[in-house]
Amino acid sequence: MPGASDTAELLARVRARPLPRHVAIIMDGNGRWAQARGLPRVAGHRQGAAAVRSVTRAARRLGLEALTLYAFSIQNWSRPTDEVEALMLLLVEFLEKEQQELLTNGIRLNAIGDLARLPGQVAERLAAVRAATAGGQGMTLTLALSYGGREELVHAAQVAAASGRPIDEAALAAGLWTAGLPELDLLVRTSGERRISNFLLWQAAYAELYFTDTHWPAFDERELLTAVADFQARERRFGLTAEQVAAHEGGG
Ligand code: FPP
Repeated sequence: MPGASDTAELLARVRARPLPRHVAIIMDGNGRWAQARGLPRVAGHRQGAAAVRSVTRAARRLGLEALTLYAFSIQNWSRPTDEVEALMLLLVEFLEKEQQELLTNGIRLNAIGDLARLPGQVAERLAAVRAATAGGQGMTLTLALSYGGREELVHAAQVAAASGRPIDEAALAAGLWTAGLPELDLLVRTSGERRISNFLLWQAAYAELYFTDTHWPAFDERELLTAVADFQARERRFGLTAEQVAAHEGGG
C-alpha cells in the first residue's frame, strides 16, 4: 500500500504542472463496496460520505477551482424508499458537520439539480450552508442533487426561450445550472462502469474522461491525484490538429 510520503511526492509532482480547473466525479460503487464486505448498502453510502469529505479536502489542498460531485440523480428517486431516506439523512448530516470545515477552508458550497424535489430538511440545510459559505474564494464544491443532464438541458432551453433572445450556444450555456462554473476539464467515474449516466451532458463536450475500478468509498487523495496526473499527460486538441495545438502552445 502506498504511504503518506508517496502521496506527498505525487501531490508535488501534480502541483508542478497545469491543473484542471474543474473536476467532476460520478461517485459509483457504494453498494458494491458494501456488498463485498457483507454490509448493507447504506453502510456503503455512509463510507461514501466519508470519501466525499476526504476528497473535497484533497481537491482543495491540490488547488482545484471547482469540484462537482454526482451525489443523487433524478433517476435515484426511484430507488427503494428506505435507501432514498438514508441518503437524504446522510446529506443532512454531511451539511451539518461540514459547514465549519468548508468555511475554514474557503470552500463555497453550491448545488445543481431539481432542488425543489428535495425534502424540506435537506433543502433548508443546503440553503443555510450555501448562504454561510457564499463568500468562499478557495474552491467551489458543487453537489449534484436530484440532478439529470437532460433535465438541465430542457431547463436551459426554457430559460433561453423565455428570454426572447436568439437561442444560440451562449444562450443555452447561460441557462445551465452550472452557469458561472469553469469549463469542465476532467470527468471521473469510479467503480468500473464506463458510462456518463445523464451527468453534465453539455459540459462534458471537451472534458477528458477517466475511469477507475476503485469503488467510491475507497477513492482517496491518492486516487484523485492519479486521475489528475493522467489528465496532465493527455493532449487536448479541441477539434484541432496536433500541429495546430503545438503552434498555439508555442505562441504561434
Ligand atoms: C452510487 O453508488 C452512489 C450513489 C447513488 C449516491 C452517492 C452518495 C454518496 C457518496 C454519499 C452521500 C453524499 C454526500 C454528498 C454526503 P451505488 O449505490 O449505485 O453503487 P452500486 O452501483 O455499487 O450499487
